[in-house]
Amino acid sequence: MQYLTFFCSLSLLLFFSNSLVLCYDGPLYDSSAYTQCKQHPEEPLYNGGILKDHVPNFLRSILGNGGQVSHPTFLLQNLTEGNRYCFSVWIKIKNADSSLVRASLVMEETNLSCIGTVIAKQGCWSFLKGGFVLTSSSKFSKLNLQDSAGRDIEMEIASASLQPFTKEQWGLNQQTKIYKERKRAVIIHVSDRHGAKLQEAEITVEQVSKDFPFGSAIAKTIIGNSRFQKWFTERFNAAVFENELKWDATEPKPGQVNYTIPDQMLEFVRANQIITRGHNIFWENPESSPQWILNLTSPDLQSAVTSRIESLMSRYKEEFIHWDVSNEMLHFDFYEKRLGPNATLQFFEKAHQIDPLATLFMNEYNVVETCDDVNSTVDTYISRMIELKRGGVTMDGIGLQGHFDVPNPPLMRAILDKLATLGLPIWLTEVDISKQFSKESQAIYLEEVLREGFSHPAVNGIILWTALRQNSCYQMCLTDNDLNNLPAGDTVDKLLKEWQTGILEGKTDEYGSYSFSGFLGEYKITAKYGNKIVKSTLSVRELEKGGVSMDGIGHEGYFTVPNPPLIRAVLDKLATLGLPIWLTEVDISKRLDQETQAKYLEAVLREGVANWGGGRTVIGTWNCCSVMRLLLHC
Ligand SMILES: *[C@@H]1O[C@H](CO)[C@@H](O)[C@H](O)[C@H]1NC(C)=O
Ligand SMILES: *[C@@H]1O[C@H](CO)[C@@H](O)[C@H](O)[C@H]1NC(C)=O
Ligand SMILES: *[C@@H]1O[C@H](CO)[C@@H](O)[C@H](O)[C@H]1NC(C)=O
Ligand SMILES: *[C@@H]1O[C@H](CO)[C@@H](O)[C@H](O)[C@H]1NC(C)=O
Ligand SMILES: *[C@@H]1O[C@H](CO)[C@@H](O)[C@H](O)[C@H]1NC(C)=O
Ligand SMILES: *[C@@H]1O[C@H](CO)[C@@H](O)[C@H](O)[C@H]1NC(C)=O
Repeated sequence: MQYLTFFCSLSLLLFFSNSLVLCYDGPLYDSSAYTQCKQHPEEPLYNGGILKDHVPNFLRSILGNGGQVSHPTFLLQNLTEGNRYCFSVWIKIKNADSSLVRASLVMEETNLSCIGTVIAKQGCWSFLKGGFVLTSSSKFSKLNLQDSAGRDIEMEIASASLQPFTKEQWGLNQQTKIYKERKRAVIIHVSDRHGAKLQEAEITVEQVSKDFPFGSAIAKTIIGNSRFQKWFTERFNAAVFENELKWDATEPKPGQVNYTIPDQMLEFVRANQIITRGHNIFWENPESSPQWILNLTSPDLQSAVTSRIESLMSRYKEEFIHWDVSNEMLHFDFYEKRLGPNATLQFFEKAHQIDPLATLFMNEYNVVETCDDVNSTVDTYISRMIELKRGGVTMDGIGLQGHFDVPNPPLMRAILDKLATLGLPIWLTEVDISKQFSKESQAIYLEEVLREGFSHPAVNGIILWTALRQNSCYQMCLTDNDLNNLPAGDTVDKLLKEWQTGILEGKTDEYGSYSFSGFLGEYKITAKYGNKIVKSTLSVRELEKGGVSMDGIGHEGYFTVPNPPLIRAVLDKLATLGLPIWLTEVDISKRLDQETQAKYLEAVLREGVANWGGGRTVIGTWNCCSVMRLLLHC
């Protein structure tokens, strides 16, 4: 640590705070979720909440066609406007192999047609988790569990639970999660060169970058528009191209491949260290595909598909942090229809083959937004991903578009809980609020969605679908054409400010220490004592979480699957501090076989060397016996 050879030395100690001391005695949100069909149901969440000791009724309902179905119902009294209600129940069915069971709520004035779903199976117990918020209180309501197709399915239920949270309690639960997941407590000790603690040293802490990727879609309108570029880079560290990488944009006519526009956009994001999602390789919706592919014969389509993926992925190898491989496959199946049921499987295989380091994503709508869409329930999404994995696909992340109407926060959180059981990073990839609402309502709903996303531990990034085009956006703009904030823009600016540490100033205490709680990211630290100043940098990082961890100065680089564009972006950011960067303990997880370790190691080292520029990066490997023996002397 050659920067600390001053009069006073400064050492940093990170500790992990496990508990937030809050004067809160309300209910704590229970994030338990199960996707396996079990022999026995688990205990009810919240000990049943207001459904404790509540026996369900079985109602017979008359269907439109005159038939009758019998289904379980809970009769509920005095549901309160504004409360967030979390509902969960275990279900076993008898007279069918499987049933998409939907929970709904019938009240005096309105009905909520879906507050949760589960794909229940015969002979074992499945877990339904959902929730709702009421816009007006209800004295009497019925919570129904029914087969979504209206079939007469015999259902057994167990461990039902309904737990209300007031709006304030919900908000405090979010704050607790944010504190634990997105921040770390840091203590700075200042001492003189003999190790004596220095009291009253002036400390300045400045967060210079944020780890959490938060961004927006951009359109080609950003090219050459320096004012807009400045506006963007002041706010966001992540992006996606709205349309410019899509097949119909890069190859409008057969064989006329043109990457001029995405290349220019890439130049902008690279120059500003903005990590960017690759969207998308294929889109299962024929209407959103190049029209010239629609009438191709299957062999011609196969060869068009092969050239598309080869051209795109080799050109942009290691440029995008994710690739959406087969967009919206739960709603459309153009390629499956034309190329066979394994088309998506082949897309993933091919993508992985061309760029083994590419992070491959699914990207889908109406999964987290609502449970009304039978094509894209959370269980449908999960089972499709499991099926692809079984087929040999390397799936690296779950994309949830997030095109919302009125958000339902407890349902959204319940769905995220279920998806989180897969252990993959979850990104909200295209967040916006429908333009059917006023700009003010859009802003209010957007805030609910963003708070829910940011406070969920499994969410690793959020991208807004707010590309500013000539005079419009898809559903929701953040600003007008002159970059004046609209209400949604105010919301985003408010949250950006709330979710950063900014600049902190203080003095060391009698123990020579100063502590703060900082959002994950890079920091500049200055300590001043008398006329002596010492400066350092600090990475406040989450450790041992997710597939990629890339730590800078004085920290380690334990990789599982390295993500070169992310590494480069982090190194570029760190380089702005003008200090040498050491990758001090590079290795690849021993969970991987030796061949894969070697390949991934090479990728990391190449990235490190490529970023050497003037001795900027120095690499040392962590050659532990169980991993591999390789040491670089730089
Ligand atoms: C619901 O509210 C009514 C009127 O305030 C009250 O009489 C009744 O006991 C309440 N029911 C329950 C189950 O709390
Ligand atoms: C609510 O649902 C019930 C039962 O399906 C139906 O009879 C009633 O008309 C619905 N009410 C409204 C306001 O939609
Ligand atoms: C490629 O696209 C750019 C931008 O739209 C355009 O200026 C250029 O003429 C195109 N090139 C060809 C060969 O069509
Ligand atoms: C594809 O074929 C259909 C019917 O044969 C025709 O109506 C349609 O115009 C064709 N589409 C294109 C893009 O050629
Ligand atoms: C569900 O998917 C099927 C076929 O993929 C399609 O016909 C149907 O319109 C879709 N439904 C919705 C609600 O998107
Ligand atoms: C699809 O892939 C699965 C798993 O690899 C394989 O068992 C099956 O035979 C394939 N089906 C077709 C039609 O190729």
